[in-house]
Amino acid sequence: MELLNVWDYERLAEETLDEAAFGYFAGGAGDEHTIRANLEAFGRWRLRPRVLVDVGEVTTATTVLGTKLSLPVIPAPVAYQRMAHPDGELAVARGAAAAGTIMCLSTFATTSPAEVAGAAGEGGRWFQLYWHPDRGLTKGVLDQAREAGFSAVMFTVDLPVLGRRERDLRTGFELKPDYRMEVYASALRDLGVITPESAARLVDPRLTWRDLEWLHENAGLPVIAKGVLTAEDALLAAEHGCAAVVVSNHGGRQLDRAVASLDALPEVADAVGDRIEVLMDGGIRRGADVAIALALGARAVLVGRPVIWGLATRGADGVQHVFELLRDELLLALALLGCASPDEVGRAHVAPAPRG
Ligand code: FNR
Ligand code: LAC
Repeated sequence: MELLNVWDYERLAEETLDEAAFGYFAGGAGDEHTIRANLEAFGRWRLRPRVLVDVGEVTTATTVLGTKLSLPVIPAPVAYQRMAHPDGELAVARGAAAAGTIMCLSTFATTSPAEVAGAAGEGGRWFQLYWHPDRGLTKGVLDQAREAGFSAVMFTVDLPVLGRRERDLRTGFELKPDYRMEVYASALRDLGVITPESAARLVDPRLTWRDLEWLHENAGLPVIAKGVLTAEDALLAAEHGCAAVVVSNHGGRQLDRAVASLDALPEVADAVGDRIEVLMDGGIRRGADVAIALALGARAVLVGRPVIWGLATRGADGVQHVFELLRDELLLALALLGCASPDEVGRAHVAPAPRG
């Protein structure tokens, strides 16, 4: 099968993975309204190309929080990557580095931060934090990330409790006993069988914005709040010292019927202006989707499932190829929009699609 785009990778991944693993990676909460909303939101915008602009030299390169990226696309933190492919997080780190972007490692990863640091080589890396109720343990997790050279903490704020994922309830998805959540391996020896529900009990549901102070003191790294969907919360994130926010509904896996990420992006971008950087994720499948997100105020986007489909089918090479497909599509979109770089894409490059 010729793999020309992310959809091709998704189809092949569905053939490759068993039903429980595919259901975990593909699925979401409730009726999966928000998964569909994330995708459909892009259809409500049209691009407004400008012509007779010199596009002899176009680049997709950009910087995010001072880190250079060859494209404004970053792998979203996704748990249990060895359930998609035996090389798991190491393959995602290698594929991302080969494509010139950074690695973003989940707290619920099946590979330790130190091992990922080895695989990522010169590639940059961010650590996604799920905050355990035991602060000592959470501090230990942050220390592992900092010591392994991770340069930012992406604090996920939309999972105080787990969304109801009916695919997982039906298949009984659980982590294979060969794999562990490596950051907890030394501190929490007997976690029993890991399911999405049991893992979510390792997240403190009592956190508030006030706890950001503790995080700043103990992380010693820039903090990115992931899972913000309103201008109000984006402003709170800025007031509480976050360097960036990720406009996200967790890929439709938490609150079903939550607003689509792309629909929330303009109000967040307008609210924070240049105070902090704005990232987004949810439903990005094409380079043109990246262009729309840039136009509506994102500095860069994250992709979750597309990376997993590349990983599941072809390991590190598949991950790299998914980023390269998105890069080629974005390059084409930029040239045809009359933009020489991601920085040049602005609100004037999109218009609402006519209704009907
Ligand atoms: C996730 N996501 C996620 N987010 C996070 O902060 N920590 C995590 O461990 C995970 N785990 C996870 C597992 C799986 C299987 C998926 C699909 C997603 C959410 C992820 O970072 C991101 O917000 C979404 O995946 C973005 O939507 P798309 O790109 O998958 O449409
Ligand atoms: C998930 C968690 C682990 O979405 O973030 O499955």
